[in-house]
Amino acid sequence: MRIIAVGILFLCFSIFSSLSSTVSNDKVPPRFPSSVIRPEQLSLATKRGTKLYKARYFTQILDHFNFNPKSYQTFQHRYLINDTYWSGPEKNSPIFVYTGNEGDIEWFAQNTGFMFDVAPYFKALLVFIEHRFYGKSIPFGGDKDIAYSNASTLGYLTSTQALADYATLIIDLKKNLTADDSPVVVFGGSYGGMLATWFRLKYPHIVIGALASSAPILNFENITSPYSFNNIITQDFRSESENCYKVIKGSWEQIEDTGSRSGGLELLRKSFRICKNYIDADALESWLTTAFVYTAMTDYPTPSNFLNPLPAYPVKQMCKSIDDPTTGNDSFAKLYGAANVYYNHTGTTTCFNLAYSPPNWITTEFGGHVSIIIYISQSQTSIPLRY
Ligand SMILES: *[C@@H]1O[C@H](CO)[C@@H](O)[C@H](O)[C@H]1NC(C)=O
Ligand SMILES: *[C@@H]1O[C@H](CO)[C@@H](O)[C@H](O)[C@H]1NC(C)=O
Ligand SMILES: *[C@@H]1O[C@H](CO)[C@@H](O)[C@H](O)[C@H]1NC(C)=O
Ligand SMILES: *[C@@H]1O[C@H](CO)[C@@H](O)[C@H](O)[C@H]1NC(C)=O
Ligand SMILES: *[C@@H]1O[C@H](CO)[C@@H](O)[C@H](O)[C@H]1NC(C)=O
Ligand SMILES: *[C@@H]1O[C@H](CO)[C@@H](O)[C@H](O)[C@H]1NC(C)=O
Repeated sequence: MRIIAVGILFLCFSIFSSLSSTVSNDKVPPRFPSSVIRPEQLSLATKRGTKLYKARYFTQILDHFNFNPKSYQTFQHRYLINDTYWSGPEKNSPIFVYTGNEGDIEWFAQNTGFMFDVAPYFKALLVFIEHRFYGKSIPFGGDKDIAYSNASTLGYLTSTQALADYATLIIDLKKNLTADDSPVVVFGGSYGGMLATWFRLKYPHIVIGALASSAPILNFENITSPYSFNNIITQDFRSESENCYKVIKGSWEQIEDTGSRSGGLELLRKSFRICKNYIDADALESWLTTAFVYTAMTDYPTPSNFLNPLPAYPVKQMCKSIDDPTTGNDSFAKLYGAANVYYNHTGTTTCFNLAYSPPNWITTEFGGHVSIIIYISQSQTSIPLRY
């Protein structure tokens, strides 16, 4: 059993994928949801003139845990604030804080409609705090080249430091607003939800509650089965139809067989409408895996645009393509149809570019820096995912 370092779901998470013995496993680097954040998407809200918040900067402490000279360094820490619904300190109205995860905080603020929905009922102040080393909260003078250079700088990228940042900022903000008695509740999704949970546990004098959504709080070795993630993804497709599951499960073998035959790669290129620049069977599998995993992760009942534009119930839509009787026994046509749901919902893609691989935070940007380790394995019955 080989172990490969891959990451998915959370930047600064290293997920070690130990695949079961029957499947070969050295594959192309994974893609992260957050790397799918497109700058043009971020500016959308501004362009429409619908400002959701104001951005502010706080002079934050680089190292909360020792007194070495370097620890006195600071950095500009961004947070977003919306006081439209707040009744103010006189009424001890609450403060809802999003504990930012691995990415630009604007992206999380724009995709956490829940907080905007509930704020009027609680007359709450909304605050979204960015995670250090992301977005515009880059230590070492805001220079990413320096901040991401090596362990001497990346050593300050830990969830423990991030939680201390949040504590420091919240206390200072409350003081500035003379809102010492306003209760604080933290919110977060995914890794941000883990942070919210840990924040409530570690700083109970600062927050009265935490709401964590889609947060793999207990997804650690010897606590949660390493098969659970892939099994859930598999179940999403299998619950649509047994055929959908079987076609996906059998596809890697077919892709590899075809890819290794003479002229096979060209056949794959044609079947999946891959651009002329690059093709390779591993990259194709990884590309399909991304489509299956991220579609399952964002299988919302309404049309959405979190990682990619998607229709309502996108897993159902994918299986509909796979089960489509008009494609007979042509698995590639079926899988192409499924991939089209994730990669081409807008209908504007002329060909699929396998050469484009968004930056991988673990292996490139963070030079192998590991903050959190999650193990993901595959059982014999799960869809063989290739990260
Ligand atoms: C706060 O959010 C609401 C709802 O999106 C928006 O109408 C309002 O303009 C925002 N307020 C600020 C100060 O950004
Ligand atoms: C680590 O990076 C810092 C900042 O870029 C640099 O000053 C230092 O020389 C580097 N150290 C090593 C061991 O490469
Ligand atoms: C509180 O006010 C001080 C003085 O204006 C300012 O420097 C600091 O950034 C403020 N804190 C926050 C969290 O905005
Ligand atoms: C998990 O359990 C195994 C077997 O008891 C042990 O060797 C391993 O160190 C444990 N892992 C962690 C992270 O505690
Ligand atoms: C697929 O269908 C064609 C014609 O309908 C048939 O000739 C072929 O043998 C089938 N292939 C498989 C693998 O079932
Ligand atoms: C994307 O969808 C449009 C509209 O359905 C279609 O014309 C186009 O061929 C699709 N692109 C690819 C690469 O399949």
